[in-house]
Amino acid sequence: MKNILVTGGAGFIGANFVIYLLEKYPEYNVIVYDKLTYAGNLDNLLDVSDEPRHHFVKGDICDPRAVADTIERYGVDTIVNFAAETHVDRSILDPDAFIQTDVYGTYVLLEAARRFGLERYNQISTDEVYGHVPPGNASRETDPIAPRSPYAASKASGDLMVQAYFVTYDLPVTITRGSNNIGPYQYPEKVVPLFATNAIDQQPLPVYGDGRQMREYQYVVDHCEAIDLVLHEGRLGETYNIGTGQPMENLQMVEILLDELDRPPSLIRHVTDRPGHDRRYNLNIEKIMALGWRPRHTAEEAIRHTARWYRDNEWWWRKIKSGEFREYYEKQYGERLKEESP
Ligand code: NAD
Ligand code: DAU
Repeated sequence: MKNILVTGGAGFIGANFVIYLLEKYPEYNVIVYDKLTYAGNLDNLLDVSDEPRHHFVKGDICDPRAVADTIERYGVDTIVNFAAETHVDRSILDPDAFIQTDVYGTYVLLEAARRFGLERYNQISTDEVYGHVPPGNASRETDPIAPRSPYAASKASGDLMVQAYFVTYDLPVTITRGSNNIGPYQYPEKVVPLFATNAIDQQPLPVYGDGRQMREYQYVVDHCEAIDLVLHEGRLGETYNIGTGQPMENLQMVEILLDELDRPPSLIRHVTDRPGHDRRYNLNIEKIMALGWRPRHTAEEAIRHTARWYRDNEWWWRKIKSGEFREYYEKQYGERLKEESP
């Protein structure tokens, strides 16, 4: 493993992973391949912009020729696929791009990995493929998948294609299924950066429904460490859950965030819920822990750390929130915020 193609490397987790890899492995070259959708942002890679082992290619994973050219030009031996449409609420408004990128794009990358005989392909997947997990249960990698949003269904389809390429073509694959990541460079449509930046500006925090849904908020660099471990020590054909194993209610997350930013609970606004909202996710993480990994941060530490990063890095998010984001925010929240609390 030497020349690693990180697709979606200008997005939130991808960029954190690129920075992590370049720092940890002085002998690796890292090629970022990214379409730069609304969520892709070269500011996320400023820390490594002068690093000669980092290369950036603007391209679409749905374009087989551009993918093949990039693999040949850089002698790519490994693909870690982060590229995806990732926001559940946007997938409800318009699923098309999700099917294109998360399903067809995954197939294009798998075909390229097969054609060029790559050493390794790791698919970045999500705990959302398991669907709602009733209290008292935690999803194991062998559990059936039961996605319930267009986003989750497109990610689950990608996983199935990856598994099929392992069985049919013996492609050296692994799949990692992460829970909710938080930390630097997350586009402020996702709940923690949205609420942190709204709170900084004394704006309402639109909590869906009763706010008692549960998510496993994990620190993004912990997730990166686990992906690195799977890439180097995971068993081919296997799937690994990555999370804290400890889900938290959204309202508790909000309470911690407001406390860290010194803002009042009166900013909380309960609004109409997300359609088909999965109430609870919970991962069983014994398998990744057996490889020697442990999360370094609790959810509370991750939330506080993230809140401080947004407080200290207005240069990064203010320009995002004044662009395309405004139109999206109005479409998603305009009416909801005018309604009486449900
Ligand atoms: P993100 O939305 O911040 O970034 C996605 C990146 O992919 C962007 O840079 C975008 O430009 C790029 N991209 C989108 N379509 C593309 C295409 N067709 N070709 C090339 N590049 C394209 O996403 P993220 O939150 O960093 O998530 C990264 C991966 O991790 C995704 O696969 C997501 O499903 C998965 N995941 C995310 C979380 C989370 O909490 N954020 C948790 C588990 C898994
Ligand atoms: O679980 C992993 C997944 O986490 C990833 O696969 C997705 O790419 C990522 O977007 C994230 O999905 P969620 O839907 O869980 O994340 P989001 O930040 O959108 O929402 C987290 C919780 O907060 C969820 O219960 C919905 C709630 N929420 C979200 C928003 C945006 C609100 O109450 N209000 C909001 O405005």
